[in-house]
Amino acid sequence: MQVIASVFDMQSTAVNLRSKGRLIGLVPTMGALHEGHLSLIRLAKERADTVVVSIFVNPAQFGPSEDYAKYPRDLPRDIALCEKTGADIVFAPTVDELYPRGYSTYVTEELISKPLCGVSRPTHFRGVTTIVAKLFNIVRPDIAVFGQKDAQQVAVIKKMVNDLHCCIDIVTAPTVREPDGLVMSSRNRYLTASQREEALIISQALKRAKEMVDGGVRNVDRLVAEATHLMGTRRRVRVIYASVVDRCTMEAVREVLPGKAIMAIAAWVDEVRLIDNMLL
Ligand code: PAF
Repeated sequence: MQVIASVFDMQSTAVNLRSKGRLIGLVPTMGALHEGHLSLIRLAKERADTVVVSIFVNPAQFGPSEDYAKYPRDLPRDIALCEKTGADIVFAPTVDELYPRGYSTYVTEELISKPLCGVSRPTHFRGVTTIVAKLFNIVRPDIAVFGQKDAQQVAVIKKMVNDLHCCIDIVTAPTVREPDGLVMSSRNRYLTASQREEALIISQALKRAKEMVDGGVRNVDRLVAEATHLMGTRRRVRVIYASVVDRCTMEAVREVLPGKAIMAIAAWVDEVRLIDNMLL
């Protein structure tokens, strides 16, 4: 497995691979890899000839009071995991390499990025679309794999790819959960044992909403009220949003069409911000 740090080396490697007709699969990550990321790498391996995993904690997608400085970083461990999982290349540039002094160009999606996380993190998706567009230009992938856990991110990126006519197939991989239901996230590392215990209510609330829909409930207010009530039973949990939205547009819906809507939740567990979602 090759580890590349420079944009120039990554671009020339990509040009060379493409000239040989190799299909390139990209798995963009911010490192602190867990089983969820590894499942993305495995899926990319099934669909592409060469799998590139990018590891870059992107400052542009963190707000000023967010956890950029303390975001977990362990490049040697991440590289070893990528190699073990069968990645071909790790692209791990520095911040100066991607955002040199005087950097001033950003990509913004202005519709799907507005609701849900866009309300409480107004510059987050601008950072995501910017870095993902840059990675697409550097790695030149045929496919790129993202996790359904970040449902709004996937929807925003699909919209960007469509709007900017990028010839890249966006593949969405199923959410990976711990055996007790907690969705896998690099930020789970921040949780103490008791916070983790309380965080479980998020996936339980989603599961309850799904059960209600399976039982015939279609009214979104009832689903949201039940999920919010459940999360309210945990002292450390503060709901940022619990919404039922169209799975592609992220627009709020009033009635659930099974298979077309997701319930998306963001919540603080003390100072740790977690997100999760479920197809209803
Ligand atoms: O999902 C993430 O880890 C990040 O938002 C991404 C897509 C790697 C962009 O920095």
